Amino acid sequence: MRIAVVIMAAGKGTRLKSKRAKVLHQIGGKALLEHVICAARQIVPAHDIFVIVGHQAGAVQSEMAHLNVNFITQAEQRGTGHAIQCARQAVHGYDHILVLSGDVPLLQASTIAQLRDFHLAQHAAMTILTAALENPFGYGRVLRKSPHSPEVAGIVEQKALTPEQEKLREINSGIYAFATKPLYDHINELSTNNAHGEYYLTDMARILVEEGERVVALEAASPTEVLGANTLAELALLDAEMRLGTARRLMTSGVTIFRPETVVIDAEVEVVPDTIIEPFVQLLGNTHIGEGCRIRSYSVIENSTLESHVLVRHGCIITDSHVRSGALLGPYAHLRPGSEIGEEAHIGNFVETKKVRMGKGSKANHLSYLGDAEIGSGVNIGAGTITCNYDGTHKHRTLIEDGVFVGSDSTLVAPIVIGKGSYIAAASCITENVPEDALALGRARQTTKPGWVSSHRGTNRAAKEAVKNS
Ligand code: UD1
Ligand code: CA
Repeated sequence: MRIAVVIMAAGKGTRLKSKRAKVLHQIGGKALLEHVICAARQIVPAHDIFVIVGHQAGAVQSEMAHLNVNFITQAEQRGTGHAIQCARQAVHGYDHILVLSGDVPLLQASTIAQLRDFHLAQHAAMTILTAALENPFGYGRVLRKSPHSPEVAGIVEQKALTPEQEKLREINSGIYAFATKPLYDHINELSTNNAHGEYYLTDMARILVEEGERVVALEAASPTEVLGANTLAELALLDAEMRLGTARRLMTSGVTIFRPETVVIDAEVEVVPDTIIEPFVQLLGNTHIGEGCRIRSYSVIENSTLESHVLVRHGCIITDSHVRSGALLGPYAHLRPGSEIGEEAHIGNFVETKKVRMGKGSKANHLSYLGDAEIGSGVNIGAGTITCNYDGTHKHRTLIEDGVFVGSDSTLVAPIVIGKGSYIAAASCITENVPEDALALGRARQTTKPGWVSSHRGTNRAAKEAVKNS
């Protein structure tokens, strides 16, 4: 038996009031449509998945290209029924199709599998996935033939509900299974005689019943899974729901999260047990955090790897970087792309790094900019040190070898090599390479004028008196 998945994703999403196609809006750090495709790929191979695109089709296709699914174009968006009409040729040869909505992103693969199995067991022409919602406003309602019968008489859209039907809480999730033959034998009977002047896929329920076909409904175990998003406010609710799900999954696996409702963790993030995540932390993109780390409040970590026992103090921003075991960061450290921080190294208060490799146990504890630099192990970078990596046209590299001591407030003008074990005096401006074990000073010699202040003060006083008496 051949089964395809068809995902409707051509709509504009007018109610979102955004220029961007609705299905490309993100929750949990991933586009709505990508969530749906990922769930579908757990049920059928990618080559049996057909995504119907229309509004901003180019952008949707290119953003989903890596998922290797098929695309069908619905040039004009004339409703969900019309979308499925457009899939006719593509799904010819499949016995059944599972129809998903690109804007219902919390759906789990296990629920799709349940829908498929129920549909096949019921020998139905159409099976509707439903849910009982506290607030069903806005959704189509499913009319069962009798309250406990699986058989359905039809689906009524919100705008067409009678006052009596408005009380019905069982909604249409927009997710269906169809036997392909009866669907396409009758799909041309859809009409646009409704509030939106569109071809409603929901009308297939009534049409098939009138043809004597079996139409049934399956209520989803978890109503939140089938929530759709038509407005940005609804999208925010789904985002919160999904992230709470991610936080719960991590907590179940042994990660401590204080106040999980405040953290923002993307779906793909991995955290190893015995790590602690404090309130208001964001872990984004392709981020991996090892065992025994502690991420203190207000830190934002994106596309980065932290090995084990890393302490990230408050307010750090870490992007596209790699931090080795036992390192200590922050508070308020900024690791920009390409920072590789060595084992047990320290990057302290208000230190910014970019394309830096720092060796084991090296420290930059206060107020520094380290860019385009290779720093060995056991190096001490004094407070306020700056690598001058940019000459206005090009970027240049700084090499600081093992065991170097850089005094506070030094400026290292790249390209430059600071040799192994050497010592840079505080406040130096270093423009020439420093050989191994040398002391380099690059600053004006201090001049001290004894008694200068008091003699000056006397002169000032005499001058002021003169002004007053004139
Ligand atoms: C639809 C259902 C409603 C159900 C709800 C669940 C219909 C007529 N109504 O309403 O019963 O309760 O979903 O979320 O189907 N799309 C296309 N081409 C089009 C129009 C839409 O591909 O021409 C896609 C959209 O991109 C979207 C999906 O189909 O992913 C659903 O369309 P939408 O307009 O959001 O339908 P709802 O009004 O939510
Ligand atoms: Ca919708």
